[in-house]
Amino acid sequence: MNVLLLGSGGRENALAWKIAQSPLLDRLYIAPGNPGTASLGKNLSLNIVDFGQVEAAVIAYQIELLVIGPEAPLVAGLTDYLKHSEKTPDLLIVGPGAIGAQLEGSKDFAKSFMMRHQIPTAAYQSFYANQFAEAVNFLDTLNPPYVIKADGLAAGKGVVICIEKQEAINTLDDMLLKGRFGKASGKVVIEEFLNGIELSVFVLTDGKQFCLLPEAKDYKRIGEGDKGPNTGGMGAISPVPFANESFLKKVISRIIEPTINGLAVENIDYKGFIFFGLINVDNNPMVIEYNARMGDPETEVVIPRIAEDILPLLIETAKGELKTGKVMTDSRYAATVMMVSAGYPGDYIKGNPITIKGIDTTDLVFHAGSALHPATGQLVTTGGRVLAVTAYGMNVEDAFHKAYQTVRNISFEGAYYRRDLGKDLANISVD
Ligand code: AMP
Ligand code: GLY
Repeated sequence: MNVLLLGSGGRENALAWKIAQSPLLDRLYIAPGNPGTASLGKNLSLNIVDFGQVEAAVIAYQIELLVIGPEAPLVAGLTDYLKHSEKTPDLLIVGPGAIGAQLEGSKDFAKSFMMRHQIPTAAYQSFYANQFAEAVNFLDTLNPPYVIKADGLAAGKGVVICIEKQEAINTLDDMLLKGRFGKASGKVVIEEFLNGIELSVFVLTDGKQFCLLPEAKDYKRIGEGDKGPNTGGMGAISPVPFANESFLKKVISRIIEPTINGLAVENIDYKGFIFFGLINVDNNPMVIEYNARMGDPETEVVIPRIAEDILPLLIETAKGELKTGKVMTDSRYAATVMMVSAGYPGDYIKGNPITIKGIDTTDLVFHAGSALHPATGQLVTTGGRVLAVTAYGMNVEDAFHKAYQTVRNISFEGAYYRRDLGKDLANISVD
């Protein structure tokens, strides 16, 4: 089977690494890919939100299975376009259509979906720009802190948590009236603040059945001790120690099953990954957000823990032939440490040479924001998040310890990584 994987981050490097191990694979293409995926298949230089370009590549490379990594082409409707194209009639696609992708593309859509299906989530209301006064009044019905979310995609920056009411009013003004996130903040969701520890759970679903993947916890803040601005993710761990069997049972019965049933009842054709961003409130899971794709860097720990061939699962998902169950899982822990450019998540310099020495073949160094210099061929930085270094271990501490050992063999000017990953989990009691 020929497979085309869309995306260029650490998530796609990890997916490509897994797909490349499948005996069912003939040729793997990644578009646009990165230097990490280049050693696993052939990178294709194309614009993945240009539907015509993706369609042309599917035809030219006789692609049978398309796996869509990031949210932008999903929310834009790439899946619907290719499903309706007469030029790609037999193409199998992992990635929901535009309506299903609204679970991620519109916070308001996701919240009202959860309300319709009694899925536990924070109380909320949505407001348009012409309801600014109502939005301000709604703040009075909540206890601080206030959680204000741009409705649409805002590159992970669309959620603002405000301690003071005036700060919340200013944020509403910025989003609704000053267009801080453009169209994405033409509508906002204001919701109740939930107190707890976050984790993420992932499934592959064909819209009727689902296959549970390993759970993970990511580290969003740039600074140690969870300080400073949010990033795309500075590291991740799987499994999550407090996500014991009884907690995961609640996740399945209260959240995953009602979500999949909701999609089926509403006739939403959904074939792909669902990322459930959860918060554990007194041992009760609640949904913070849905994503219509895998997480990054969560994929860099979830995928290495999958102990069976992923290609049959992807094919069954795309064909609508999935059986409900749980993927075979490696019992070891997997930890990933993200090495980022100085200045990230703000402005950063690109083009710094990367040196990697003495890396073992068992070390998993997934590329996220790297490139080969066009003139010299030297590996250089090109993104905020540069490399995700994953290692296995017997527990949280051991897995991070091994990942940090590998990180120390990698250098580029201004390289930064959090040195405290996993420490927060040492003190959490499991009921
Ligand atoms: P989201 O983009 O919806 O995942 O939100 C980004 C981050 O904001 C989450 O990972 C949480 O840390 C935080 N957050 C979002 N909603 C809430 C909430 N209702 N209560 C507390 N924290 C929240
Ligand atoms: N790491 C969070 C995300 O992928 O959205």
